[in-house]
Amino acid sequence: MKRVAILISGGGSNMVALAKSMTGDHPARPCLVLSNVPGAGGLAKAAEMGIPTAVVDHRDFKGDREAFERAMIAAIDPHAPDVIAMAGFMRILTPAFIGHYAGRMLNIHPSLLPKYRGLNTHLRAIEAGDAEAGCSVHEVTAELDGGPVLGQARVPVQPGDTPETLAARILACEHALYPAVLRRFVEGERGFLSL
Ligand code: GAR
Repeated sequence: MKRVAILISGGGSNMVALAKSMTGDHPARPCLVLSNVPGAGGLAKAAEMGIPTAVVDHRDFKGDREAFERAMIAAIDPHAPDVIAMAGFMRILTPAFIGHYAGRMLNIHPSLLPKYRGLNTHLRAIEAGDAEAGCSVHEVTAELDGGPVLGQARVPVQPGDTPETLAARILACEHALYPAVLRRFVEGERGFLSL
């Protein structure tokens, strides 16, 4: 059975979707939910599901990114994860951290990569007049939101959409896409999945 550590910063709805998918004949189970935000809503949800949780608050490290990441690694590695799934984890990671988990890190990003890496993806799609938006699950490499894309789900941008309404439409797709890509990834499948 493979082990999946999930990194979050917020409400953790993607984390819940991932954790709920890892039952029955699924070849993986969640082994840890780690947040850099002490009060992140996802922590309580993980605890309710019986998943071990950890907090490594980046603010305790006063801008020392390497020390923050060393503390994260120290919290993660005892759980012996095969896969690290970033699910709304809102800190940029250095190549040292990413290299430590090379080839076994996934992230979900709320845009159709390579469009709109970084933040404010929904606003940027609306302002650009895009007819379509969506989400991507990609392997994490040292390039921000730049690793190989393993799956995407697309939604229409509707007239009158705000960043909030578009984000809600995309989030619903995230909850279907991420579990599907994670399962394929754990099974060794690296082909592109379109939902
Ligand atoms: C999701 O929309 C995810 O795609 C996004 O944060 C949200 C987290 O929601 N991630 C990023 O923007 C990463 N740069 P959740 O905590 O409910 O899963």
